[in-house]
Amino acid sequence: MSSKVIQKPEDRDSRPTTHDSQLTQSAGPKSIKLFEKAQRVLVGGVNSPVRAFKAVGGTPLFIQKAKGSQIQDVDRRWYTDLCLSWGPLILGHAHPRVVMAAQKALREGSTFGAPNPREFFLAQMISEALPSMQRMRFTNSGTEAVMSALRLVRACTGRNKVIKFAGCYHGHVDALLIKAGSGATTLGIPDSAGVPLAWTQETLSVPYNCPEAVEEAFARWGKEIGGVIVEPATANMGVVLPKPGFLKFLREITSRYKALLIFDEVVTGFRLEYGGAQTAFGIEPDMTCLGKIIGGGFPMGAYGGRKEIMENVAPLGPVYQAGTLSGNPVAMAAGIETLSLLKNKNPYAHLVRLTTWLANGIRERSLRFGIPVQVNQAASLLTIFFTEHVVTDWESAKTADTQRFGQFFHHMLGQGVYLPPAQFEAAFLSTAHTPKDIEKVLQAVDKAFEKITSVWEKKRPAVPAPSRSKDVSPRRVPTAL
Ligand SMILES: Cc1ncc(COP(=O)(O)O)c(C=O)c1O
Repeated sequence: MSSKVIQKPEDRDSRPTTHDSQLTQSAGPKSIKLFEKAQRVLVGGVNSPVRAFKAVGGTPLFIQKAKGSQIQDVDRRWYTDLCLSWGPLILGHAHPRVVMAAQKALREGSTFGAPNPREFFLAQMISEALPSMQRMRFTNSGTEAVMSALRLVRACTGRNKVIKFAGCYHGHVDALLIKAGSGATTLGIPDSAGVPLAWTQETLSVPYNCPEAVEEAFARWGKEIGGVIVEPATANMGVVLPKPGFLKFLREITSRYKALLIFDEVVTGFRLEYGGAQTAFGIEPDMTCLGKIIGGGFPMGAYGGRKEIMENVAPLGPVYQAGTLSGNPVAMAAGIETLSLLKNKNPYAHLVRLTTWLANGIRERSLRFGIPVQVNQAASLLTIFFTEHVVTDWESAKTADTQRFGQFFHHMLGQGVYLPPAQFEAAFLSTAHTPKDIEKVLQAVDKAFEKITSVWEKKRPAVPAPSRSKDVSPRRVPTAL
């Protein structure tokens, strides 16, 4: 257990850094004033830690409104948004059809605490897209979905241990808030104050993309392991793709030991493609957790799986799980409209082309400016790691220079590009992003890299003057997934 770095993405990115305040103060006067006021009533001035900009320094922007690919802060500055509320907004902000659907639902009543037709309609759509989810239950967040799925796994298998991968995040579920192991398998040590050691000792941490470690864990604790939970492509140590065969191996070993395979598709569901990562990679998990996109921008999660597993949940079975606002009609309406648009318009190849154009443009600039970066991409997800090492797991992700990311982030912000404010996160594209947005972002990368080069690498041999970009037009870029 060498790492002191906290594993859940929001806290792990909120450790104090030593940023040069002159370079990191990108917020305008109104945001600065509001942040001062907010800190007097909200813990740290925010409602989710990563929003506080601790990982990049400076003051968070307070957002006034958003439309399509653009957000506006309270100082009336517009930004091209590549954070997109951390993933739900695959259609961009305030899509008119989603807004209309939510308004209509709201006029008909905001919550009933009783079954409503939109619930089974959305469930049907999800089940058609992800046939492994024969039965499901809606929750109000991804965290709630994962927490409930784990309870069910333990009840169904009669086994308490769960394998999780270092660097994967599954919400702030007590048992999964564990420190990353530095080697092979480690028993969970709490990574948050307030989580009892006993609650994490049933969680085994193994490195992502490492079949040997999983094999070793099963060899040792096989009869006690109820399930393996995995982000099939990760967004929470930054974007990392599974190595070829890794997910197939997880499917095979869980079946061999009669444990359940849980895909946490809170980010990848309806994102990598309509049928999520399980369709993209052709692997059928026993259970799936969803969130983000299925709520169309409203609070929502879901967990589901094979009928015989799910029928253990109350009222059919002994596993208790409930929620006052679960199946909320407004969130259901926004989810239905979002999925309908995705199904009918099938924008996935277009999104991949746009993202690949951006990824290649960044790579080309990193070579030109001599700044080592790894640009990892999974469909319309992308992370720029400031490291020369190929990033395949949490250990390699940690080689990224977070200070340099912080500088980059603020140089981008200063030019009107809003990235996720932490190195170990994914940037998102939406159907609202246009080639103009990509051109703007790449121009901003040019300037940001130029500034970083002059600030950080004064001693380097002279770099060639930036030439006109030779970016490949989106139509000629091959698809990545
Ligand atoms: C893969 C994954 N699982 C679960 C969660 C938790 O979802 P929520 O923030 O809705 O509780 C997240 C949140 O970012 C996530 O990325």
